[in-house]
Amino acid sequence: MAEIERTRVREKEAPVLGDYELAIKSMHENAERNLTGRVVCRLDDCKQTLTRQGRLRYYLGFSITDTPLRDWVVFTHEIRTASGKHRHQGGLIIYVIEGAGYSVVDGERVDWEKGDLVLLPLREKGVEHQHFNVNPEKPAVWMAFIRRTLQDYVASEITQTEVSPEYKKAEESGRTPA
Ligand SMILES: [Fe+2]
Repeated sequence: MAEIERTRVREKEAPVLGDYELAIKSMHENAERNLTGRVVCRLDDCKQTLTRQGRLRYYLGFSITDTPLRDWVVFTHEIRTASGKHRHQGGLIIYVIEGAGYSVVDGERVDWEKGDLVLLPLREKGVEHQHFNVNPEKPAVWMAFIRRTLQDYVASEITQTEVSPEYKKAEESGRTPA
């Protein structure tokens, strides 16, 4: 009886893979994602959440693993008044979908409106930025496209220097957003 139990325990243990085998496995998983992953990211499947930076809706991101193109992060940002303020490396693209507003990038105001493309440049210490909506009647919405490999190569990290007004309000009222 004891011998049978020992055998069963041994069968459950996953084999320990070395780096070469892990590389093969990772490449296979990536190839599978590109072969069979869903190629439409539907609005209804992407929940908007209130974060320290603001209202974000991720189409591609760190927790999304069933699509091709695993090195992209794509999300929308709905700005009602102001976003949070943070610093990270640039090299990313923002397309304005709705409304009008402006961004303050390293202290400089840059205005934008629906249909515009906004670029965050690569700079030695990254770029500090915050986004604002100019129309209190209608939120501004833009979509960001970020290449993770580029961010990794330049060892980018996010430093939050101010949280969004909505997040701050939610925190103060005892509701802890995601
Ligand atoms: Fe940012």
